[in-house]
Formats: sequence, C-alpha cells, structure tokens
Amino acid sequence: MITREEAYKLLTDNVKNKNLIRHCLAVEASMKSLAAYFSANEEAWGIAGLLHDADWEATKDTPEQHTLVLADWLEDWDLGDEGIKEAILAHNHFHNGHEPPQTQFEWSLYCADELTGLIVACALVQPNKNIGTVTVDSVMRKFPESAFAAGVDRSKIQNCEAELNIDLESFIEIVLKAMQEIAEDLGL
Ligand SMILES: [Fe+2]
Ligand SMILES: [Fe+2]
Repeated sequence: MITREEAYKLLTDNVKNKNLIRHCLAVEASMKSLAAYFSANEEAWGIAGLLHDADWEATKDTPEQHTLVLADWLEDWDLGDEGIKEAILAHNHFHNGHEPPQTQFEWSLYCADELTGLIVACALVQPNKNIGTVTVDSVMRKFPESAFAAGVDRSKIQNCEAELNIDLESFIEIVLKAMQEIAEDLGL
C-alpha cells in the first residue's frame, strides 16, 4: 500500500499553499483519531485525509474535476482495498457527480473535512492564535453563529450525528483533540 511518506510527497509535489497542506494534515490527524474510535484502519483513513485535497490546486478552476484528477493520479499506486479512493471521491460528490458518502470511512472524511475549518477559525481568534486554548464549549458556541467562519457548512458537520452516530459535541472533541496534538505542524 502507498506509504504515508509517499502520500505526503504526492501532496506536497502538487500543493504549494502552506495553509492547504496544513488543512490536509489536520484532516489526516482527525481521520486517524476517528479510525481509532471506530476500531478501523488508522493508516488507510489517515492517508485518505492527507490526500483528499491533493489535486485542489490542479482543479481550482474546475471544481467538478476535484478528486477526479487525484483519482487518476492514484491509479499508479496500490491503495489496498480499504476504500481510500471512494472516500476521497465522495467528499466532493456535490461537484464531481460521485455517489454521496455511505460508509463510516466516507462520512468521517466528509464531516471532519468541514469541521477542521471551523476549528481553525476558532483558533485564529484566540490570543496568539493558539489552538491549545480552544475548548469544545467554545466551538459549540460558535457553531450556530452563521456569521462566524461563514464558509463552513454546518449541515455537513452535523451529519456526524445521523451517519456516524456520534453527537456533535463528541465529534468536535475527537477532531479538536487530534488537531491539538499536531498544533505545531498546523502553525496554531
Ligand atoms: Fe476537497
Ligand atoms: Fe478538504
């Protein structure tokens, strides 16, 4: 299977924006924690998180191609049979015509992808932009404030309840903790 190092190289060969690389690292960490929560394959879930936006810069003017280009690149790699490619494709189903998420793996990527953005926004309003001082309560308070981090689609995140059977507060806790553990890599 593609190694973490190979996946990271594929990401950084194709993404130059530092914040986008950080976003991918945040989603990777979240996915590994969610895999641990579900006793799933942490390695495969982490790779999906790390790679999910690797073709973002290549497709920035053609959102319907986002993930399709990446899926094409991934033809050269052995991804095992854990559903990495399907999870990546499903996260952009609104644009690429793929089926919506169905499995825990696919829903985890879909929900965590969006939540990391809200948590970054919460960190950026902390003194010293420190994610270490962000609390689950503070993220919960910002959740219904639609003017805060207005680009974050709360309804996507809320799918965690029906699709993953994890209440919103617990879902935030898992993702926040995962991100706090790699605060330095996130520059937060
Ligand atoms: Fe994406
Ligand atoms: Fe993303």
